[in-house]
Amino acid sequence: MRFQASPAPSPSRRGAFVLFRGDADRSLPPSLDRALRDAAAAALRAKEFTGRKGETLLLHGGGSRLLLVGLGDKKASGPDALRGAAGVAARQLEARGIQEATFLVPGAKDEAALARAVTEGAGLAAYRFDACKSRREKARFGKAAVAPESGGARLAAAVSEGQAIVEAVSFARDLGNLPPNTKNAVYLASEARKLAGGRLSVRVHDRRAIERMRMGAFAAVARASANEPRLIEMRYKGAPRGPVVALVGKGVTFDTGGISIKPAEKMEEMKFDMCGGAAVLGLMHLLGSQKPRVNVLALVPATDNMPGGDACRPGDIVKARNGKTIEIISTDAEGRMLLCDALSYAAESKPACMIDLATLTGACVVALGDAAAGLFTSDDGLRGEIEEASKASGERVWPMPLFPRYSEMMKSSYADLKNAGGRYGGACTAAAFLKEFVGAVPWAHLDIAGTAWTDKDQEWNRVGATGYGVRLLWEFLKARA
Ligand code: BES
Ligand code: MN
Ligand code: ZN
Repeated sequence: MRFQASPAPSPSRRGAFVLFRGDADRSLPPSLDRALRDAAAAALRAKEFTGRKGETLLLHGGGSRLLLVGLGDKKASGPDALRGAAGVAARQLEARGIQEATFLVPGAKDEAALARAVTEGAGLAAYRFDACKSRREKARFGKAAVAPESGGARLAAAVSEGQAIVEAVSFARDLGNLPPNTKNAVYLASEARKLAGGRLSVRVHDRRAIERMRMGAFAAVARASANEPRLIEMRYKGAPRGPVVALVGKGVTFDTGGISIKPAEKMEEMKFDMCGGAAVLGLMHLLGSQKPRVNVLALVPATDNMPGGDACRPGDIVKARNGKTIEIISTDAEGRMLLCDALSYAAESKPACMIDLATLTGACVVALGDAAAGLFTSDDGLRGEIEEASKASGERVWPMPLFPRYSEMMKSSYADLKNAGGRYGGACTAAAFLKEFVGAVPWAHLDIAGTAWTDKDQEWNRVGATGYGVRLLWEFLKARA
C-alpha cells in the first residue's frame, strides 16, 4: 500500500474520496467537489448517514465517488477513532473493487497526528498475507492520498512516518503468519540479518554458542528440535552516548508443548508463539528506516518447542545463565525458559530499562481477552511511560500484579525455582518467574498472548498476526528520544 500526502483533494478516476464524520458533525469541507457535497448534504438531511461508529455510505456525483465513514461520538474522535474508521474505509473500498482513494483528514488542532492515524488505519487494514497462495487474490486496495479537509496543512512527514509504521507492522505480521515449517529460528535470524546496516548491527548465536553462554534454560527447550535454535542479538545506535533500552521478544516458532504436549485443537495457532520476537524485529525495521536518536539492544531467543527422544522432561533440573537452577514442571512453560536467559544476558550490560514481549500464558488470555496485553512491572516510572505509549498508539495494556505471593508459588522443593506454578494466577506466576532474572534493572513484561493474533477482521487488524507491540514500542522510544 502506497501513501502520499497531498495538499488538496483530487482523486483519480478509479478512486474515491473518504470523508470521516462524527454523529454531531454535519459540516462538509468546501474543498470537496460541488456535486458530491450536494449528494452528501442530501444523505445527511434524509438521515441515511448519521455518523455512528462503523457506519458507511457510498455516494456518486460529478464523475467521482465519496465514501462517508462514521466516527461515532464527536468527543471521542481522536487518532484512535480515526485509525479504526480508516480501517473500516479501506475494507469498504476494497469490497467494492476501488483501488485508490483520497482520505480527507478532518481539520483539527493536531492534523498531523490524525493524518498519521488515517495512514496507519488504512494501511494496516489493507494488509494481506498471500505469500503462500499459489494464485494472488484479485487486485487490492493499494494507493492512497491523505489530504487535509481544509487544504494547506503540511502532512508529508506524518504520512511518511505512518507509511514506515505500516511497513514495519506488516513485516512483523508476515513473520507471524508464515507457516512454522518456513519460519524456523534460522529463517528468523536471516530476516534479522537483512535489517543490518547503518546504525543497526546484528549478531546471531547458534546452538553451541547458546550452550557456551551458559543459557541452560534456553538450551533445554531447544534440545529435541531438529531445527537449530538461534539467539538473535541486535544493536541500534542512534545516539553517540546515552541510555540503552533493552528489548526481548519470545521467539518460539512453534509450541507443541514438548513432552507436556498440547491438545491438538487449535495447535496450529502456536505458530504465532514467536509474535513477541516478531514485534521486536518489526521495531528494528522501523528504527532502521526512521533513525531516531535512541540506543537499543534487542534480543530474540528463537527455537521451536518439540517432543522427541532427546527432549527435556518434567522433573529435569537445568541451570540458567544467572546461576539459578530451575525444575521443569511443564515443558509447555517454555517461553519463560528462553526469556529468563535472554533477560539475564541483557541485564548484565546494565541497560536503562528492559521490556519483554511474549505470548506467554493462556491465563493472560483468560484474564484480559484480546482487549489488552498484560503489563507487569514494579517500576512506576516505566509503567507510566508504557501507558502513555499505549494511549498514543492505541495498543492497549492493562496493569497486572507482581505480588510476592506469586514468587513464593514459583519456589521448587528440588531446585531454586520451578517453571510452572499450578493452575491459578498463571499469567502472574509466569511474570514472577521472569522477575528472578532481571536483577536491579527496571523491567516491564508484556504478556501479549491475547493480542498477538486474531481470528476475525477488526478495526485495523486482519485475520492472523496483528503485529501488536511494534507501534507501542515505537511510541515508547520516540518519547525517550
Ligand atoms: N505459548 C503458550 C501460551 C499461549 C497459549 C499463548 C494459548 C496463547 C494462546 C505458552 O508457552 C504456554 O504453553 N503456557 C502455558 C503455561 C503453563 C504450562 C504453566 C499455559 O498458558 O498453559
Ligand atoms: Mn508452551
Ligand atoms: Zn509458548
